Amino acid sequence: MLRKRSPLFICGAFIFVAWNVILIFVLMRRPSTQGSLDSPDELGNTGDKARGGQFGNIMNEVMLVANAFEAEIESQKKILLQIQSHWSVWENKGDVTAAKPKSQAEHSAPVVIPILVIACNRVTVKRCLDKLIEHRPSAELYPIIVSQDCGHVETSDVIASYGSHLTHIKQPDLSDIPVPPQHKKFQGYYKISRHYRWAFNQVFNTFSYSTVVVVEDDLEVAPDFFEYFRALHPILKSDPTLWCVSAWNDNGREGFVDPGKASLLYRTDFFPGLGWMFTKDLWAEIEPKWPASFWDDWMRHPDQRRDRSCIRPEISRTLTFGRKGVSLGQFYDKYLRFIKLNTEFVPFTKMDLSYLEKKQYDESFEKEVYGAPVVTVEDLQSGKLSGSGPFRVQYSSPDSFKTMARNLGVMDDLKSGVPRAGYRGVVSFLLRGKRVYLAPPAGWSQYDPSWS
Ligand code: UD1
Ligand code: MN
Repeated sequence: MLRKRSPLFICGAFIFVAWNVILIFVLMRRPSTQGSLDSPDELGNTGDKARGGQFGNIMNEVMLVANAFEAEIESQKKILLQIQSHWSVWENKGDVTAAKPKSQAEHSAPVVIPILVIACNRVTVKRCLDKLIEHRPSAELYPIIVSQDCGHVETSDVIASYGSHLTHIKQPDLSDIPVPPQHKKFQGYYKISRHYRWAFNQVFNTFSYSTVVVVEDDLEVAPDFFEYFRALHPILKSDPTLWCVSAWNDNGREGFVDPGKASLLYRTDFFPGLGWMFTKDLWAEIEPKWPASFWDDWMRHPDQRRDRSCIRPEISRTLTFGRKGVSLGQFYDKYLRFIKLNTEFVPFTKMDLSYLEKKQYDESFEKEVYGAPVVTVEDLQSGKLSGSGPFRVQYSSPDSFKTMARNLGVMDDLKSGVPRAGYRGVVSFLLRGKRVYLAPPAGWSQYDPSWS
């Protein structure tokens, strides 16, 4: 405790002494009222010297002292803000926070949440960076680190043009990666994986941050992107059944989300990626076994996920504009480009988000989903169902899941048995304005990784 406070005390004492020295300096100048600085002309006082001379001079001096005070307080405020942000970085380094009682952690300075941007050879990273900087409420609380792979000069120039608004780091190993012959065409996925590992090590080990939000260079962020992650940080840290917070809804296409529910959040068992936050503790756990390629699907494997969930929004807080990428653009044209970006600012940090904690969430989730009447896909498509829902459609095999998902217009793929955006096997979305749950039979207990 004491050990932790001492740097603050030293800074405080230093500021106090400095302030007093300045005060004395200003006051000692007082007798020399004819000095150049406080001459009436320079102060804009054209003054009637016969009548108001003396009084005017005293007023001018008072003004000077007040101005000096004001400037000093302003600069001290800046120093304190800097101390605060460095302090919270220091404070949030692993063990220190873990050892601290929760109530105290809640009252400490806000955590610094760095934004790691993964870049390579696309100059369009500009769109990503412009939006991040436009919506960023504080450079101290959200330092942007752009990690660049690929050694592409034009892209490097674009990143460098942001100067002190961000930190530009470069992945040093640009060599080709030896891959099995049948994986030749997947070389890009190997490089992405190598880059991610290096960049995360930079964030957590070199820069010593306790958490990170990672975005790729082809993502544009929503106005409340920062607000969203800050609000979810405490629950990510306190609920061990969560391992990430993502900005992405895989089924977030126009018409499939409720435009009036921008504040609605969910738990999901599907790792969404595409703008996501996790902690240093998780990195320590997965770094030693980080895969050579296909890192995102590897994350979705039960060995890594270990029954943990992510938080995801009803309406995405990221949009992807990366049509041309390592995976070719078909998926983008057919699907990704239709995912709607939230435009309304939701004050998440001022809201009670405890409903997302597992116990509470699961109880109301079960009631909500399994209390809904079962209908068929045809019922839903006919548009004849009355009421606003919710309605439940039931699947019982990977095939019935896929057929129904396709017919309803939601993502039909399963990774390690988990449907995109699903929680306990349930996919929630809107259809013709009605809430629909595509769900396994009641009594669900676990995923079957052989469902693919
Ligand atoms: C897809 C995923 C992406 C995931 C990647 C790896 C979507 C929409 N995208 O990438 O989230 O990370 O698979 O499984 O689902 N990059 C490098 N080095 C390279 C090439 C690319 O660092 O040699 C970076 C890019 O700057 C970008 C990221 O890797 O930030 C993904 O590359 P991209 O070309 O966008 O591939 P996707 O097909 O979108
Ligand atoms: Mn991409």
